[in-house]
Order: sequence, then structure tokens, then C-alpha cells
Amino acid sequence: MNITLTDDEMGILLTAAVHAPSLHNTQPWRFEVHGPVVDVLLDAERTLPASDPADRAARIGIGAAAFNIRVAAAMLGHESRVTAEPDPGRPEIVARVFLGARSTPVPRLGSLYGDLSRRHTYRGPLLDQPVPPRVQDLLDDAARAEGATLRWLDQGAKTQLSALLRRTDAEELRDEDRLHERLGWIGGDRRSEGVQESALGPMPVKPALVRDLSAGFDSTHRSQAVFERDPSIAVLCTRHEDTKAWIKAGMALQRTLLVATSYDLVASFLNQVLERAEPRTQIRELIGGRSWPQTVIRIGYPAQPSHVTSRRDWRDSYDHWF
Ligand SMILES: Cc1cc2nc3c(=O)[nH]c(=O)nc-3n(C[C@H](O)[C@H](O)[C@H](O)COP(=O)(O)O)c2cc1C
Repeated sequence: MNITLTDDEMGILLTAAVHAPSLHNTQPWRFEVHGPVVDVLLDAERTLPASDPADRAARIGIGAAAFNIRVAAAMLGHESRVTAEPDPGRPEIVARVFLGARSTPVPRLGSLYGDLSRRHTYRGPLLDQPVPPRVQDLLDDAARAEGATLRWLDQGAKTQLSALLRRTDAEELRDEDRLHERLGWIGGDRRSEGVQESALGPMPVKPALVRDLSAGFDSTHRSQAVFERDPSIAVLCTRHEDTKAWIKAGMALQRTLLVATSYDLVASFLNQVLERAEPRTQIRELIGGRSWPQTVIRIGYPAQPSHVTSRRDWRDSYDHWF
């Protein structure tokens, strides 16, 4: 198809892409654009060998970036589709977004465009107000539309998760490689990448179902807060466990988060239990043992304002010589 993107259109698509979430805000992507094709590549210099040795989280982030490109393309009027790992000769190309001709009316995904810049990871306390069942259904639909499933945890499962989180957090404090890696990305005053201290949110006064990303370094300036007693927690799962499933998980995650944002919900991650084999197996059992847990999400209504992380300019990850 004879489509050539203007510089403005390319800017819109790739700005949308870089708004995607990524573990520790490493932004592990690069982009190439050839006519109507936008390739999202894994940037091997932005991976986390200690926390994410198989690049699972990195691929989830890339799936989310590819989904954002689809949302922006839809806003511009383009239908689109994504192929995972499209070129066996270039395995670094993780996802390929094909743009179709412009159509009227604007494809449905375009309605999520306004939520791209509103979505942020929120690590503060939530209001004691559950996600309404009707909205839970819409989030389920969003994950399903991208080939994944959300499993909402009941009280018993949340109690087990809580114990597992405490054990995993204690183990992390003994893992020098991870702590060292984390120091490179978390805390302090950061511009354009990583998670600066202000975005970590307050420290929980009592143990809470939240991940304190600061674990392992001093953070004397942070405020403290009492967290909600019973947050809504969902595990996003895929039927298979391979590199393509991780990309699918990223697209489903981002669609779910954007729909959540459109209902003024916020989310954070409790993924420390999925970063090690043993607790991940236990989470897998917790959700029935048949599907693969890819992210654990805490969802609700924010009780406080929050600080956002920044991004590199899209041109910094665009390979323009192609
Ligand atoms: C696969 C994946 C795993 C993540 N795991 C965690 C986590 O365990 N704890 C956490 O606080 N944030 C986690 N995050 C959120 C990132 O830290 C966040 O996306 C990044 O800092 C960018 O900020 P933003 O989401 O506010 O745009 C995760 C994100 C992704 C994509």
C-alpha cells in the first residue's frame, strides 16, 4: 500500500509509543519506519539482566508501545494490525505495526487516544472504593480483545498474595545484583528515563499490597501514608508462555490500562512476585494453574495526586537511516 507518513504523523505515532509503561521506565525500544510499516525493536542496551533475564518485561513494554501506535494510528484514521516477531532474519524486531489506508469513520481504538497521556503508574494509596462490576467487565473485555485474560483475586487469594509479596520483598533485599541494577534506574532526581523519587509515592505506614520500588536504598525525603485495606487486584494472564505471548500480554495490558484510565481508575504493579520462578509458580497455582501470569495489577481510584515519570524524545529511539 502506498502510504508515506509525514514527519508530523510519525511524531504523533512515536510520541504515543514512548508513553507506554516499561519496567523501571527503561524504555527498551527503538523504532524503524518503512512506508506503512512501523517496527518496534528491542534495544539490547536498555534491558535489565538481573531483574528481567529473559527480557519478558521488556517485551511486555514493547507490546504496550505497539498498542499505543495502533491507538494513535486510529486517531489519525488508519486501521492497523500487529505481527509479533515478523522477520526471522532480524530477531531484534519484536513487533511490526502495519498501517492500513485511512478510513471513515475513525477506527474505534482512536477513542482511547486522549487517555494515552493521562495514564500513569500510581503508587499511592487508593480510596476504599472497589472497581464497579460493570467497569471490571469492560476491563475484562479489553484484555480479552488482545488475547489475554484478567483474573480478579478474591479475599483468600489476596491474603496468599500478601504473604508472598512479603517473602519476595525480603529476598530482593538480599539480591545484590538486582539492588545494584535498580540503583541505576530508581530514585533521586531523574529526567527522561528511570523512576525519580517523587514518582515512587509515599511509603506505606503498615505492610500494604503495593510495591515499594525504593527497596534497598535510603529515601529519607519520602512522605508516609496509610494505604487502603482491600484493593482490587487482577492478574493478567496468557494461555501460552513464549516470547510472542509476552508481546500479546503487553498489548492487552495497555488496552486494559487505557480503558481503566478512561474511567478515572489508576493502577500500579506488584510484579516482584513474577520476576522469580518460584513465586511465579505459586501465583500461577493461585489463578488455577492453566494460564501464565504476566503482570499483577492493583487497580482503584487515587486518594492523592501523583508525580509522573518522563520520557526520552521519540527521535532518540528512531533509526532514521532506514
Ligand atoms: C512489565 C512491567 C512491569 C512493571 N512492574 C512494576 C512493578 O513491579 N512495580 C512498579 O512500581 N512499577 C512497575 N512497572 C511500572 C513502571 O515502573 C512504569 O511503567 C514506568 O516507570 C513508567 O511510568 P508510567 O507507567 O507512569 O508511565 C512495570 C511496568 C511494566 C511494563
